[in-house]
Amino acid sequence: MGPKQRRRPVFVFPAVAKRERTLLPESESAGVAIRTVGLTRRYRSGSGELTIFADMNFTVHCGERLALVGDSGTGKTTLLYLLGGLDHPTSGRIFYGQTEITALTGDALADFRNREIGFVWQNQSLLPEFTALENVMMPLLVRGEQPGTAAGQARARLADVGLADRETHRAGELSGGEQQRVALARALAGRPKVLFADEPTGNLDARTGARVVDLLEDLHRRMGLTSIYVTHNPEFAARADRVVRLAGGTLTDDTRGAHAGAAESGAGMPESGDTRTHV
Ligand SMILES: Nc1ncnc2c1ncn2[C@@H]1O[C@H](COP(=O)(O)OP(=O)(O)O)[C@@H](O)[C@H]1O
Ligand SMILES: [Mg+2]
Repeated sequence: MGPKQRRRPVFVFPAVAKRERTLLPESESAGVAIRTVGLTRRYRSGSGELTIFADMNFTVHCGERLALVGDSGTGKTTLLYLLGGLDHPTSGRIFYGQTEITALTGDALADFRNREIGFVWQNQSLLPEFTALENVMMPLLVRGEQPGTAAGQARARLADVGLADRETHRAGELSGGEQQRVALARALAGRPKVLFADEPTGNLDARTGARVVDLLEDLHRRMGLTSIYVTHNPEFAARADRVVRLAGGTLTDDTRGAHAGAAESGAGMPESGDTRTHV
């Protein structure tokens, strides 16, 4: 067996790019959580233009835990913003299953985000003057849930992250690790299908970060999520189903991911020097 290429393009799906429609047929969206087609983001910088990535095509499958790695400034946050519908691409399209979110605007987009997507950020994103419970209730109130229902669901999520006994604490009174756990509870309060986390442990010490990672993993499984998280921590990245690396405007599968480990375990592979042709 010849040496495997260490890096390969994540996904190429040129056929869709030519079609003018906002629904992918079921046959092309089965098992697909997110698909990008020709995704391009440029920023104006002074008199010129800065291309972060161009014509990026890739797929995230339902239920996948994907780690996004890459040097600072390569565009990881930009990509999460686009995938999460918080920013609009310069060109290209993003599909969630059959639905093109790049075709949604205004209330329809806000509603889609509220129902389908949860975010956890690196920096404090909670409202410090509000209690942990109020923070977690927020996305549910925004979507029009009754306060009683919202409080019940928020309590359940706070229990999920081990903070049932902190619900009346103001967010600003909680430790950094506790705040990230509340942020995770808030992101999952509305039972989204997709969770994005942008360096969620970036400001935490190793042990506290590991606790947040354990929770991300546990809740991913229990809530049937598709998760995409950015990290600079190799151990955290290696726990994902798939690791993709953003470098020079290109996204590639990174062989250091868990899948690579599984491939390298080599079950059924002949030993080197073994000349058998039938295995
Ligand atoms: N609003 C903006 N306007 C212009 N340039 C931006 C903007 N946001 C980000 N950038 C630039 O895009 C590049 C990628 O940024 P970012 O997505 O934050 O990278 P990462 O998250 O990988 O560190 C950086 O060079 C950054 O300076
Ligand atoms: Mg970033």
